[in-house]
Amino acid sequence: MTTTPSDRGVSLGMPQLPAPAYPDDVRARLETDAREVIARYPDSRSALLPLLHLVQAEEGHVTRTGMRFCADVLGLTTAEVTAVATFYSMYRRRPSGDYQVGVCTNTLCAVMGGDAIFEELQEHLGVGNGETTDDGKVTLEHIECNAACDFAPVVMVNWEFFDNQDPQSAKRLVDDLRAGRPVSPTRGAPLCTFKETARILAGFPDERDGAVAATGSAGPASLAGLELAKGEASPARVVHPRGEAPQETPPHEPSPAEHLSSHDAPQDTSASDPAHPAGPTAEEGE
Ligand code: FES
Repeated sequence: MTTTPSDRGVSLGMPQLPAPAYPDDVRARLETDAREVIARYPDSRSALLPLLHLVQAEEGHVTRTGMRFCADVLGLTTAEVTAVATFYSMYRRRPSGDYQVGVCTNTLCAVMGGDAIFEELQEHLGVGNGETTDDGKVTLEHIECNAACDFAPVVMVNWEFFDNQDPQSAKRLVDDLRAGRPVSPTRGAPLCTFKETARILAGFPDERDGAVAATGSAGPASLAGLELAKGEASPARVVHPRGEAPQETPPHEPSPAEHLSSHDAPQDTSASDPAHPAGPTAEEGE
C-alpha cells in the first residue's frame, strides 16, 4: 500500500512565509475583529483589503506576521496575500511615522507648487521620499493625484486634505505635527494617527464626536466646470495675450464634423443614412 505525502504529514503546497506569531492575546483580539469583517462578504477572500488595514492598524505597517495572519484566517497562501499587500501603495511595508505627509506631485499640483513644497519639506525635515523623521512622527512621501485638483497644491496627512498649500504653510503643518500641536484638515474628519486611520479604513466605526458628520465638497473650480458642462453657466472668458487687441469674431456654430468631442459628434447610422443600410450580420465561420 502506498502512502501519500499528506499521509506522511508532508505538505507540497505553497510554502508559507516564515513569520513570528502574534502574542496569544493580540491574535485573539484580531481574530474577533477579523470575523466581524469577513462576515460582511459573501466570499471570505474579498475581506483581504480591509484585513490588511486591520493588521496595519495593529503595528503601523503590514508585517510578515500580519500577512501570515491574513492568510490563515482567509484560507489563502501568503504568496497571494503578499501579492496584494505589495500592489497597493496604501499599505506600508516598513515602520513609519504617526503622520504620513503626502505631497501631491502629479501634474496639476506640481505646476501649482507641489514640486516646490516637496523639495522644501525634504530639506526642512532632513528626510527623502518614504523616509521618517528621527522622532518617528512624520513620514514624507510624494503621492499621485487625489482628485482634489481644484484645491491644488494639495497635501494629505493620513489621507485627510490640506488644500491650497505653499511651502511655508506646509512647513508649519509638519512643525505642528511634530510638536503635538493640534492641526485641522481643510475639510473632512478631524485628523487622527496613522494607526487609527487604518482601523477606520478596515471598516470599524469612527466614534469621535462629529467625525462622521464632518465632510467636504467639490471646490468652486470643479463646480464651475460642472455648470459649464451642464450648460448652466456662460462659456469661459477668453483671455487674450498681453498687448493684443481682442478681435471681434462672429459666433461660430460648429458643424458635426467639427464637434468639440469626437465621442459626442452625431454618427451616421443606418437610420440616418438610408443610402448605406446595415446588412445582415454574418456569423463567425460562415
Ligand atoms: S493633481 Fe494633485 S490632486 Fe490632482
